[in-house]
Amino acid sequence: MSFNVAIDGPAGAGKSTIAKAVAKKLNYIYVDTGAMYRAMALYMLREQVNPGQPDKVSEKCEQADITIAYENGQQVVYLNGENVNPYLRTEEVGNMASAISTFPRVRAKLVELQKSLAAKSDCIMDGRDIGTCVLPNAQVKVYLTASSLVRAKRRYDELTAKGEVCDLAKIQADIEERDYRDMHREHSPLCQAEDAVLVDSSDMSIDEVITAILGLCEKRQ
Ligand code: DC
Repeated sequence: MSFNVAIDGPAGAGKSTIAKAVAKKLNYIYVDTGAMYRAMALYMLREQVNPGQPDKVSEKCEQADITIAYENGQQVVYLNGENVNPYLRTEEVGNMASAISTFPRVRAKLVELQKSLAAKSDCIMDGRDIGTCVLPNAQVKVYLTASSLVRAKRRYDELTAKGEVCDLAKIQADIEERDYRDMHREHSPLCQAEDAVLVDSSDMSIDEVITAILGLCEKRQ
């Protein structure tokens, strides 16, 4: 049986940075489920589907073939045969991903892909519903969070380092809006699984969080 580590938490909590580092240390694959929702969102944006049209979202969702490959140790997301990794990390795609992830048809399709990856390989998977829904039997479950201000500051620093002009208060407001939507949707809302360990990284360094999660994995192996 494969060993599965589930990491859930709100946007900007550092899940992907931490999960990637833990995967490398343990020689597991890292499955970024947010990237799958983002690929679906990119498809909807390209097809000019409005998330206010549920029937259209469900219909178009069937036409989006999303697959995952690992190239040089990196997860690559293919949308209808095209490597879409370069287009996934924009705010527009992130907001659309949050909106379309509320639809059960979208979730069912991507959850199936996620479960099949985890059944085949030892993996660390991050997202919003991994411990509660996708991998309820994961050997290690972590709920990784940080205050919205800390998360907004991290995003602000990332963007300004790239030379982008941005507004901290606006970033924080967007993060809080996304949290609200992810936590209050009807299907698989973001919440801490009963058996997940809460890690609040507001006052922790990346290395401290990685060490804490590796410690949890060691205990369960
Ligand atoms: O982690 P991220 O920012 O790349 O995720 C983008 C959106 O996708 C997020 O706002 C909600 C959705 N998502 C989800 O509903 N379930 C997951 N397992 C992962 C992401």
